[in-house]
Amino acid sequence: MRPFEEDDLEWLISHRANADVAQFLGGLLKQTPEFVEKRMRFYMKCFEEFGFSMCVTSLLETGWPIGVSGLQPLENTGEIEVGYAFDKDHWGKGLATECGIGWLRYGFTEAGLERIVAVCDPENTGSRRVMEKLGMSYEDAAFSYGFPVVRYGVSRADFEERFG
Ligand SMILES: CC(C)(COP(=O)(O)OP(=O)(O)OC[C@H]1O[C@@H](n2cnc3c(N)ncnc32)[C@H](O)[C@@H]1OP(=O)(O)O)[C@@H](O)C(=O)NCCC(=O)NCCS
Repeated sequence: MRPFEEDDLEWLISHRANADVAQFLGGLLKQTPEFVEKRMRFYMKCFEEFGFSMCVTSLLETGWPIGVSGLQPLENTGEIEVGYAFDKDHWGKGLATECGIGWLRYGFTEAGLERIVAVCDPENTGSRRVMEKLGMSYEDAAFSYGFPVVRYGVSRADFEERFG
């Protein structure tokens, strides 16, 4: 995983232009090139401010980007959330879980966070399953990024007890 750079915009637009990837990210009507550019600028600003952000995520073997994962402040509340999205060819291989554990470990051990949350569309069964595999527990129904979401969370102590 590495922070976004200017040259990543074209790739990010094409990644989010896939209907399956965009389905639970507000859909293709939301993920326009203009919107995606704004989000990428937000990720870059977030990295400058916090030292972490949503990051370009690539396979070690090829170096090609296959998705986005990372930590960022949750819209509205400022809680730190973990997030992930991959090209469909790479779903179902455990990558979101692998990246999510890495980001939680980074957040708790390097960034000094005490609690990390995650939100998703209530219908996004795959994402909810990833949250469970990350040791996160359901907290409540909330409203984020313009949509109803479910919020999950995990404390540093609970993460360390489960993953060491
Ligand atoms: C959600 C997403 C990140 C999951 O990534 P992934 O790398 O496939 O996740 P993993 O392989 O680590 O784990 C997925 C788990 O969910 C399960 N799962 C996936 N889709 C499911 C579905 N529709 N119904 C039930 N379970 C599902 C898998 O079986 C797996 O659980 P298991 O290991 O117990 O079998 C991926 O589907 C994605 O990129 N979706 C588009 C973007 C997105 O929605 N991101 C989340 C926004 S909050």
